[in-house]
Amino acid sequence: MSQPALFEPFTIRNVTMRNRIWVAPMCQYSCFNEDGIVGDWHMAHLGSFAIGGAGLVLAEATGVTPEGRITPRCPGLWNDEQIAAWKRVVDFIASRGAVPGIQLAHAGRKGSDSPPFDYEGKSGTVPITAGGWKSVAPSAIAYPGHDVPHALTISEIQVIVDAWASAARRAVAAGFRVIEIHAAHGYLLHEFLSPLSNQRTDDYGGPLKNRARLLLEIVSAMRAEMGDDIPLFIRFSATDWTEGGWNEQETSIVADWALERGADLADISSGGNVSGIKISVGPGYQVPLAMHVKEHSKMPVSTVGLITEPQLANEIVESGKADAVLIGREMLRDPHFALRAAIELGADISYWPGQYEWARPRKA
Ligand SMILES: Cc1cc2nc3c(=O)[nH]c(=O)nc-3n(C[C@H](O)[C@H](O)[C@H](O)COP(=O)(O)O)c2cc1C
Repeated sequence: MSQPALFEPFTIRNVTMRNRIWVAPMCQYSCFNEDGIVGDWHMAHLGSFAIGGAGLVLAEATGVTPEGRITPRCPGLWNDEQIAAWKRVVDFIASRGAVPGIQLAHAGRKGSDSPPFDYEGKSGTVPITAGGWKSVAPSAIAYPGHDVPHALTISEIQVIVDAWASAARRAVAAGFRVIEIHAAHGYLLHEFLSPLSNQRTDDYGGPLKNRARLLLEIVSAMRAEMGDDIPLFIRFSATDWTEGGWNEQETSIVADWALERGADLADISSGGNVSGIKISVGPGYQVPLAMHVKEHSKMPVSTVGLITEPQLANEIVESGKADAVLIGREMLRDPHFALRAAIELGADISYWPGQYEWARPRKA
């Protein structure tokens, strides 16, 4: 019996995802302290998606340096203690047959933000005196609601490239089998890509080749640390949704340059670098952006954004609009979305958990 397209395995390099239903990276602001160390929340949260049949479980934006975190409660991979904490979670995900993945990130000018809950009612930029830090960016241009960042010098940029490479090495040591670079949503690498936030006049600003330089240096440095087996994804915001901003044409060009340096898949999202933009959203609203990149580059692509129904997810993959779908908020409502999709689409899967066999619909 042929499987629905959504349930076809997908292999990149030496890693096979059992299906095309992947968990989108989602910040949890839930490290116990401000040490970037994950704990039981992450085990229960990410573990439930693996039990629930997802092909790939992508852990949230994880700082490559302490200043690369979005908030002081976000996780990190800048030291070896953090490897051990992640390994526990990773081993459980893998034991359930899902591929454990991690999104590495640098928050740039949007860093040092207050966690959105349980933070003693505080909001806005966390002051340095209260455990925050001076944020950094390509240019000293503030994102509304945030402090003016420090414009990185060339030598500071090189330190950041090394931090991404070291974090990739630690991610591999923790057992992650997919690593994603966060180059979207107005964080550091998107800030370099977009002419709206990058007004440098040196080798890292101006023409596209220069704005993409940091991302491409990071891809090369990470690939050198990761070896050849493990897929490297890049999450792009394919558009700033505004005239004169970053767009899907530039995304497609940079995707191909990144492919040549060892990246494997473009995970297509949008927005986040310009405040106050009105976007008309609806089911699968970012699929056309993924299709654009798929048509205009050689990169495989995934899509994300308001995909909440198995039928829509399957149609996207079956019609070749994207190679996989990432599911975010619907996974929070139903961590077993992939099991539900298997029932609704009539897929025959081998990874229904034995512990949950009594909940499996009987074949007629
Ligand atoms: C609570 C929450 C946290 C998020 N954190 C991240 C993140 O760490 N990295 C990222 O690239 N996107 C993040 N996102 C965006 C999601 O990955 C996804 O792109 C977005 O929610 C749209 O997909 P959805 O409609 O399926 O939720 C987050 C979204 C939510 C709801």
